[in-house]
Formats: sequence, structure tokens, C-alpha cells
Amino acid sequence: MRVHKIASIPADGIGPEVISAGLEVLEALSRRIGGFRLEVEHFPWNSDYYLEHGHYIPPGGLERLKQFDAIFFGAVGSQKVPDDVSLWGLRLPIAQGFDQYANVRPARVLPGVKSPLHQGSAIDWIIVRENSEGEYAGNGGRVHRGLPTEVGTETAVFTRVGVERIHRFAFELARTRPRKRLTLVTKSNAQRFGMVLWDEIFFEVAKQYPDVQTDRELVDAVTTRMVLKPHTLDVIVGTNLHADILSDLAAALSGSLGIGPTANINPERNFPSMFEPIHGSAFDITGKGIANPIATFWTAAMMLEHLGEQEAARALMKAIEQVTASGIHTPDLGGSATTADVTRAVCERING
Ligand code: IPM
Ligand code: MG
Repeated sequence: MRVHKIASIPADGIGPEVISAGLEVLEALSRRIGGFRLEVEHFPWNSDYYLEHGHYIPPGGLERLKQFDAIFFGAVGSQKVPDDVSLWGLRLPIAQGFDQYANVRPARVLPGVKSPLHQGSAIDWIIVRENSEGEYAGNGGRVHRGLPTEVGTETAVFTRVGVERIHRFAFELARTRPRKRLTLVTKSNAQRFGMVLWDEIFFEVAKQYPDVQTDRELVDAVTTRMVLKPHTLDVIVGTNLHADILSDLAAALSGSLGIGPTANINPERNFPSMFEPIHGSAFDITGKGIANPIATFWTAAMMLEHLGEQEAARALMKAIEQVTASGIHTPDLGGSATTADVTRAVCERING
């Protein structure tokens, strides 16, 4: 019996609702498929915990997390805590502290789901987001606070090591896809240092992947291409901020923000990787039981794949697609199903 140790951090907003749905589905899978078991430990780190204790992650918390095989994460962000405090208090210390430099975000229109632009199968992308530096490096400062001369700086950091490893990751991924295409996204016309470095390193790395077809697009231009010529894109690699923005567009174009999954990967496996739905806390629907759990299920499938449970991952994706095709949809997809309805339906498909 293979045992995988999972740290569950549901955190804020709809996080606890979708993570408990995700764990239910994972439990059904391990019972049905057999051969593996998940040993789950829950961590209560969220914004209420922060308000009570003064920290999201307690001293020694990262050390504890390190002992797990994967982290299953809900969402962080609360109306009671400034967003930059919650982000830098929980998600970024894990992603950056565990060197999860490859943020992987697939986007596809699942069966039965309608893209707002009706492109059907035209969208089949994976956005690879650099996840450890760039615009999220936390490099900046404020001086002359409150004075008319106040200054804030936010300096993006691009290192050769950081850029090269994300490009290599994207090429390796593109190579596994039927179309083997990789689009480099930068803004190297206006930003002539870090972005030009990105371009240069990309084409250096490309020489080692002659089987991957490459092209280059500016970040503004790629938004129009995503809308107007979606079938021309396959894998997209971009900086932390650019790919953050593009992945919201990708999720919306594939039907709903409630569908998009994310894997924060440490490819060397020196640390656990973290798996989370893309959508965030969603205060407007928190506690109503109508959050779409599909993003979390898809995320769970990515986690299973990372853990080497390919058969379970495939079975989960199949069950998800059968359920979306059958029209059991939460309100974000125009339906009236609840989180529990969708979860039950997916478990039923798993149990066959
Ligand atoms: C995401 C989110 C986060 C990010 C927010 C919550 C800071 O938008 O995961 O895409 O920008 O990284
Ligand atoms: Mg985002």
C-alpha cells in the first residue's frame, strides 16, 4: 500500500468548502482504485487564526509542512486582513520557501461547459507561470511616507537561474503534449533588461528542444490571440505577474473561474508541492454551499499525478468530465447544483 502524506490547508472563504469536497472525492478514489492511501493532516492556518495569534504560519510551521508529500490548499484572503498581509503571511512563504517555482495552470473547456466565446475545444492550454521571483520578488520599499514626495518602488527580479529553470520546465512540458508548441510571453519591447534576458534565455534553451515548436508574443498581444485565435496556443510560459493575469483570462474563457486548477511545483522534489484551485476566497458565496468544487477536483487530479497515482488521476478526470457533461452545474456555470450535489455526482461516477 502506497501512503501519501497530505497537508490540508483549507484557509479562508470557500477554501474549507471546496477542500472538504476534494478530500471526499480523493477518499472515494483510494477506496475504489486501491493500492494507495492518503494520510491527511489538517492545518488551521487562516485569517482568523492570524487575527488570534498574530501569524498565519506558527514558528516551525514550514519545518512541519516539509515532512509531507503534498499540500492541498484552499484559498487565502479575508475582508478582515489586508490582502498583501494574508498573501505574504501564508501562500507566498510556502510557494517561495519551498522553491515551488513552476506554477502550472491548465485551461480547457470541459464537456458540457460553455465558453463565453463559444470556442469549444479550441481552448486547450497550459500556462506555466514563473512562481519564485519576477514581480513577486518582494523587492521594493516606501520612503517619505505620507509626504507629497512619497515614493514606492517595486522592482522585479529576474535571475538567470530562475529564468532558465522555468523555461526548461515549460519545454519539458510542451514536449509531452500532442501539439508540442510553446509560446514565450514577455514585454521585451518596453522592458529592455529583465524581459530581454527572458527572451534570450528562452531561445538558448530552445536549441536543446528541436522537437518543440516555439513562438514569441508580447503580453498585450497574447490576450487578443487568446480571445481570437485560441487554437494557435498550447503551452504558454510567462512571468509571475503576466501569467497571473493571463490565467484569469484563460479560466474565464474556459467557462468559469470555478474550474481552473493550479499546481505549485518544486520539480526537484526537495520540498512538497502545493495544489490549489485558482479562484480564491469568493466572499460573496462563502457559506452558501454553492462553490464550484470542480477546480479543486481538477487540482486533486494534478496532485495525484504528481504523487505518481496516474490511474487515479485519470479516473478522477474522467468522473469530472462525465459530471460536467451531464449538466450538474453550480451557479457560476449557470446551473443550480450545490457543492454537495456535484461532489456526490463525482463520487458516484468514481464508484461506477
Ligand atoms: C493567483 C492569485 C494570487 C496571485 C493572489 C491571491 C495574490 O491571483 O493565485 O493567481 O496573484 O498569486
Ligand atoms: Mg491570479
